[in-house]
Amino acid sequence: MTLACVTGASSGIGAEYARALAERGYNLIITARRAEKLQALADELQQAHGVSVRVITADLTHEADLLRLVEVIEQETELDLLINNAGFGTTGDYATVEIDRQIDMVRVHIEAPMRLCRATLPNMIQRGKGYIINVSSIAAFLTTGSPTYTATKAFLNNFSLSLQSEVKKTGIRIQALCPGYTYSEFHDTDEFSSFSRSQIPRWLWMTSEAVVKQSLEKLDRRRVILIPGFQNRLLVVLMRTGFLPLISWLRNRLVRER
Ligand SMILES: NC(=O)c1ccc[n+]([C@@H]2O[C@H](COP(=O)([O-])OP(=O)(O)OC[C@H]3O[C@@H](n4cnc5c(N)ncnc54)[C@H](OP(=O)(O)O)[C@@H]3O)[C@@H](O)[C@H]2O)c1
Repeated sequence: MTLACVTGASSGIGAEYARALAERGYNLIITARRAEKLQALADELQQAHGVSVRVITADLTHEADLLRLVEVIEQETELDLLINNAGFGTTGDYATVEIDRQIDMVRVHIEAPMRLCRATLPNMIQRGKGYIINVSSIAAFLTTGSPTYTATKAFLNNFSLSLQSEVKKTGIRIQALCPGYTYSEFHDTDEFSSFSRSQIPRWLWMTSEAVVKQSLEKLDRRRVILIPGFQNRLLVVLMRTGFLPLISWLRNRLVRER
């Protein structure tokens, strides 16, 4: 049996990873803060697919919780797939968002993936196989808007690229998944109370299922950075070819209109 660990599995992209992997016969370790949602998902997957699902309730901004999870991952010498998916966004300028909230983002987007990769890699290297998916964002390619979010996601891209080059002879594959606008609970938090999905053109949105499908289908591909969806690949090309000011202007207009 294969074993995967998914962080941020209580909703959205993480819950879809758990569903897709259970369907493929993976046993799972799922983790997030909301215990009831995790347990409901575990019950659903155990019943539907006969896989074993271990629930670990953990707040990745709390050192003790993170270290408890790290210990579990270190001991799981047969872990085949680690998915660092937990994350959140903030709205407002850097100078107005509470600094503690931004440091929490660094903990969830950077410290947790770093510690969990470090916990599993020695075992994966010894086994000569394994997969790691770090869920980043197309925001990683932006140099405007939400500096902590864009910078933490850019970290995940570069971290994944360098890690892949280090383990290239081991059979381990690393993916940095860069979704664009995705239907999930990401925009349902208090922080996004003034945000309406209808302000973003429909064609820019993807479902969590579609994002996860592309991620898992392309796991064996050589390229580390995976941008799901043609619309998102187009956006990134525009960002990289000097159309960034136009995109920023459009983005700022959309934000102002909220
Ligand atoms: N949706 C988008 O448009 C979009 C676009 C690009 C990238 N992404 C990235 O995709 C990833 C998944 O987000 P999503 O869209 O699926 O949003 P989501 O439905 O809000 O899921 C986020 C997950 O992260 C968990 N999480 C948040 N803070 C946590 C903490 N302190 N400790 C532990 N777990 C925590 C949440 O669980 P609990 O609340 O139960 O802890 C939840 O399971 C994120 O890394 C996000 O940055 C999303």
